[in-house]
Amino acid sequence: MKVDGRHFRSIWLEPDGVTVGAIDQRRLPHEFVVARLNDAEDAAEAIRSMLVRGAPLIGATAAYGVALAMRADSSDAALDQAYKLLIATRPTAINLKWALDEMVRLLRPLPPSARVEAAYARAREIADEDVTINRDIGRHGIELIKAIAATKKPGEPVNVLTHCNAGWLATVDWGTATSPIYQAHDGGLAVHVWVDETRPRNQGASLTAWELGHHGVRHTVIPDNTGGHLMQHRMVDLAIVGTDRVTANGDVCNKIGTYLKALAAHDNGVPFYVALPSPTIDFSIDDGVKQIPIEQRSAAEVTDMTGRTADGRIETVRIVPDGSPAANYAFDVTPARLVTGLITERGVLKPDRAALASAFPERANGH
Ligand code: MRU
Repeated sequence: MKVDGRHFRSIWLEPDGVTVGAIDQRRLPHEFVVARLNDAEDAAEAIRSMLVRGAPLIGATAAYGVALAMRADSSDAALDQAYKLLIATRPTAINLKWALDEMVRLLRPLPPSARVEAAYARAREIADEDVTINRDIGRHGIELIKAIAATKKPGEPVNVLTHCNAGWLATVDWGTATSPIYQAHDGGLAVHVWVDETRPRNQGASLTAWELGHHGVRHTVIPDNTGGHLMQHRMVDLAIVGTDRVTANGDVCNKIGTYLKALAAHDNGVPFYVALPSPTIDFSIDDGVKQIPIEQRSAAEVTDMTGRTADGRIETVRIVPDGSPAANYAFDVTPARLVTGLITERGVLKPDRAALASAFPERANGH
């Protein structure tokens, strides 16, 4: 998508054909800074520190991380070491494991002399495939927005609520939840987005609002607790969120607070959709609450907040009394029964095993 008129992806191979560029998402929305990843440890640290984040982008970064590792040493031992390093960075997004498994499946049978070229080619392909998948998610998701627009008065926007950042910054381009929104906006449909701020790291307030603003999409940032009130007052036409892992039977793991939005949507008859690329499906499990590992992050993300002062300095302040402990569960699970539909690259599916398996038989059978 565009940043001040220039097209950017969230990650790319630099013109040297070796190092990897990425937007440093820790610095947004106040500073637009590009980082360079020179080796596998840089890629791992970028994921760990959330310089890059969002399930599909974590996967693409890990794939490039393997390519960088192979460039330094293309032996079997180095491949194992890269896998071990990268898989340990974040536990919840299954795209990380998917991308690493893809790389290892391709590289292991090759002689070490052929691995560097093959690794870069597959990493680029994974990034390119993500762009195509997300574009297709938008192509299917826009029909949901169009259907609602058709029942509204002319000029009245369709109000979409989203949580966290499942935008182009969380993927390689387009985003998942935002792809239908961008395509609706680009096609001349009036849309307005309620952007959950998404405490504690504020991916909604910092990243989704930044993206939508740069693309000219109308939006309003709301505190996380506001969605239920807006739904009661018919101010939300549909919710679209992203996900870090969907189980074989359609349970959805996403940023903490998603479950509460789904409950509120259910209570108010608001359609609740989840947009996902197929690498986010984990066909090996079928109980999201019991089986998906939920990342717990530093309490400092809850006790402290970072922002820009009026005179332009970036400062971190504490908002919790000294000595009060804080808990930071980064994700939660929304059971399939609360999900209206799954917007995938192959269409909008029912959140159940039969629909997922018949749309993605190659994944369901060979997970
Ligand atoms: O902790 P984050 O910022 O990596 O969490 C991101 C999300 O929860 C997104 O909704 C999810 O990864 C889907 S991104 C298309």
